[in-house]
Amino acid sequence: MNWEPFDLCAPGQRPPRPRDIGLLEGLGDRLRTAAFAELQAVHAFSWAVSRFEDLPEGLGEDWRRQIPQEERHCALILERMAELGIEVGAVPVSPRIWESVRDCQTGKQFCLYIASAEERGRQAGIRLCRALQDTDPKTCAIFQSIVDDEEAHVALAATYYGWRP
Ligand SMILES: [Fe+2]
Ligand SMILES: [Fe+2]
Repeated sequence: MNWEPFDLCAPGQRPPRPRDIGLLEGLGDRLRTAAFAELQAVHAFSWAVSRFEDLPEGLGEDWRRQIPQEERHCALILERMAELGIEVGAVPVSPRIWESVRDCQTGKQFCLYIASAEERGRQAGIRLCRALQDTDPKTCAIFQSIVDDEEAHVALAATYYGWRP
């Protein structure tokens, strides 16, 4: 798996805690984590569409359509990091989402897991946007657009499996 330009934690290691959000480094820590979650989502959905044969009609296609959106989310955040001069590989990130995804044995298990991860990411995006709305409207707008897409992604688990966050 190619995770460039990210630097992964050593197996079993936790990533360092994010620094103060008032510092550029702290914002960078949050952007890096968010961008890496998006890249893991790209790989997770790409993997899931061919891995599971027990999917309800239409779900695989919905996941397939989502992949370019996850790619776009990742690209938007990485682009913003570049504008702000934040180095992607400066701090290691944890491939926890990807590792958990690979443990899923059924399409349902995968769908519920990834929806809960997307919902956590969505909530973090809402918090970040709120914290930045006055000081960094450009980053805030990027997260607002991601959060809007993620609402539909999370809704797939409700539509197909009756899941509620
Ligand atoms: Fe996303
Ligand atoms: Fe998503």
